[in-house]
Parts: sequence; C-alpha cells; structure tokens
Amino acid sequence: MKVTVVGAGAVGASCAEYIAIKNFASEVVLLDIKEGYAEGKAMDLMQTASLNAFDTRIIGTTGDYSKTADSDICVITSGIPRKPGMTREELIGINAGIVKEVSSNLVKHSPNTIIIVVSNPMDTMTYLVHKTTDLPKNRIIGMGGALDSARFKYRLAEAMGAPISDVDGMVIGGHSDKGMVPLTRLATRNSVPVTEFISEDRLDQVREDTKVGGATLTKLLGTSAWYAPGAAVSGLVQAIACDQKKIFPCSTLLDGEYGLSDLCIGVPVVLGRDGIEKIVDIPLNDAEKDHLKESAKGVSKTNGLLEL
Ligand code: 2OP
Repeated sequence: MKVTVVGAGAVGASCAEYIAIKNFASEVVLLDIKEGYAEGKAMDLMQTASLNAFDTRIIGTTGDYSKTADSDICVITSGIPRKPGMTREELIGINAGIVKEVSSNLVKHSPNTIIIVVSNPMDTMTYLVHKTTDLPKNRIIGMGGALDSARFKYRLAEAMGAPISDVDGMVIGGHSDKGMVPLTRLATRNSVPVTEFISEDRLDQVREDTKVGGATLTKLLGTSAWYAPGAAVSGLVQAIACDQKKIFPCSTLLDGEYGLSDLCIGVPVVLGRDGIEKIVDIPLNDAEKDHLKESAKGVSKTNGLLEL
C-alpha cells in the first residue's frame, strides 16, 4: 500500500506520521516544493521508526512526482493555512491554483489513485479536483467532516464529563465556520442520546464551539491546527487501505442525494478499498435538512469563485 502526501507542512507531516505509526502502509511519500523540506521531515520521521515500532518506509522528495508513481492513495494538504481571523474561503485565490497543479501531477503518475483533499476551502477544492481530473467520483474524497466530528465529540464529552470513547456523533455539511451541521439529535453516550445528559442551551454551545473549532485553534496557534486534521486523514486512509467499510462524513460529489447536486459537501459515506463505496442516506428532520441546504448554498457560492 503506497500513500503520497503532498505538502510537508504541519498537517502533511502529521498525516505521514499517523499513517506510519498505524503501520498498514508499506510506503509513504512526502512531497513538498520547499528544497529539502520533505526529505528532512521524512528522515526525522524515519528516525522514530524504531521508537514507534513501525516498518512503513517514509521518503521525502522536493517536487519529483515520479517518486509518487502508482500511489494507491494521495493526500493533498498543500496550500496556505488560515491566519487568525481568516475564513477558509479566503484561501481560494492561492490554494485553487496549487490544488489544480498538484492533482494533475498526481493523476499523471498514479492514474488509478484515490485522492483525499484537505486543502481549504476544502469542499470547493474537492469540487475542483473533480473538474481537473477524470477520476471517478468514488475516488475523490474531501476530508473535513471526520475532523469536525472529532471536535464535536470532544465538546460533547466535555459537556457531559464523559470519556470520549463513550461518545459518538457526526457533523455533516460544509467544512466552514458557518456551514457545519452537528447532528446533536443523533449523538449518543454509549447508545444513550446525549439529550438525556445535556440541556438544550448547552447543546447550542456545543454546536457553536464545534463550528468554530478550527478558528478557535487558529486564534490560539496563529495558524491552522495540524494534529487532529492529520489524525482524521489517517483514519480515512486506513479505512480505504484496510477495506474497513467504516462510515465517515466526507465531502463527496452529490448527484441528487440529500436533494443536492453538482457540489461536494459532507455527508455520511462508507469507505473501503474503492474509496467512497456508498453514500448513506440518513433520515434528517426538517431543521437538519434546512441547515444542510443553507450550508450547500454557501459551498456553491464559494464554488462560483473558481475559474473553471
Ligand atoms: C481545520 O479546521 C485545517 O480546516 C482545517 O483545522
């Protein structure tokens, strides 16, 4: 199993590290345009192999896409991250050109790859990869919902004083500060609805804290987060690599599902060896449907900024 990660910044290097530590991939190629940067990060990570007990080979390359040839899965993290106060959508001017070039180069060397898009604004960048490459739609996956759901579970556990391992919950919709749809109605603490433990007012706070989870960290860190994004990507990569058939909320091209078409937005999907193997149609109530539709309007508006 060969995985390429484009972008050796904090998110990309965290992706590579978590993938390696889970030890399901034979090779991880880390690519960056900054001279020597990916090579240095790869070497540093390889020097943890004996300490973290993994056999995955991590190699770094400065812009040589031939090293990525025949990758089973390619992760695109390249582009600029947010600064405090910025929205993800403001990154489109620079990141669209980068994602277009990177996705074309990846598919040229790995025509059968599965692409996971992380670069922001992620839903629009995922849509751009569809417009740039001729990969089938099951092989283009946007990672946002897995990260947002992890933050949602963190906030739910915090509100209940519960161990996170007892908490389940999902965030669908756009990966944006206003567009996320945390499904509090369906969230549980060990199969018990969280509404049995958390007041509606507190649930409102959980929803709002979840939506701005990325912005909260950007304000504290001065740049975008990287540990949880990297860990979320590694979960998607493992589900595909190990054909796990796990359900994750992922940004995928819709063609009528949830009443939406011609955009990529976060909905529950089954991930396995073929990438997105099924879009799962969960019964939403009217309020959730309205929130998802509003979210889709925001994503489509950002898509409209693309020069296709
Ligand atoms: C985040 O929410 C980088 O969009 C990513 O942290």
